[in-house]
Amino acid sequence: MDCVDQYVLSHFPERAASKRLAKRLAINRKIPAWIEKALLRNQAPSGPALELGCGPGGYGALWSRFSEFTILADIRRPFAMMAAAHGAALVCDAHNPPFRAESMALVAALNLLDVTPEPWLLLGQIDALLMPGGICVLALPYVANFNGPADLIATIKGARPELPHLSYAVLASNEWLPWTVPAGERLVHEYQVHALIARKLPV
Ligand SMILES: C[S@@+](CC[C@H](N)C(=O)[O-])C[C@H]1O[C@@H](n2cnc3c(N)ncnc32)[C@H](O)[C@@H]1O
Repeated sequence: MDCVDQYVLSHFPERAASKRLAKRLAINRKIPAWIEKALLRNQAPSGPALELGCGPGGYGALWSRFSEFTILADIRRPFAMMAAAHGAALVCDAHNPPFRAESMALVAALNLLDVTPEPWLLLGQIDALLMPGGICVLALPYVANFNGPADLIATIKGARPELPHLSYAVLASNEWLPWTVPAGERLVHEYQVHALIARKLPV
């Protein structure tokens, strides 16, 4: 089994290897459910949605509900190929995305900002891609790169010297969304994900 199959089987209840695991993974539906609810209350402008680090593309249908067109991007080709079932997909490095500035109405990066060695560059690119009034959707399960949810929120409001030009209004923030990932037959890791939806303020 390759890493992509492994990822899908261990993250998505619909594709879990056993009923027992499917039951455990059902809790992972809370993250997209929370995002959906928040986006229903806070519409993105019209235009395309882009998810960076999309993995197998499990969120593609969600973005399509709120955008004219969905683009799913991952640095690893097997993930992008699987994501192609859920939207237009491409292989690219999120730190150097091949799109025009301010061309996206929504940019999502779920479980990506805290695995990159260059979080400032990535956040700067997300900001550059978003049109004014556009929405960013971020999720961070690991305590890495940012000193917790308050630090991320301060960062997108321009408090960090690395990215002083960021100017966002936080529309919804939830620090305690459960995300379960099995680590073996009898062991699962449960993360508490911080998810954030914010609007880029016009300058
Ligand atoms: C932890 S997984 C999250 C996948 C998906 N967003 C989710 O929440 O299920 C991180 C994903 O980001 C991708 N990734 C890592 N570094 C990347 C980069 N520099 N550019 C684009 N994708 C990247 C990985 O290949 C992987 O699919």
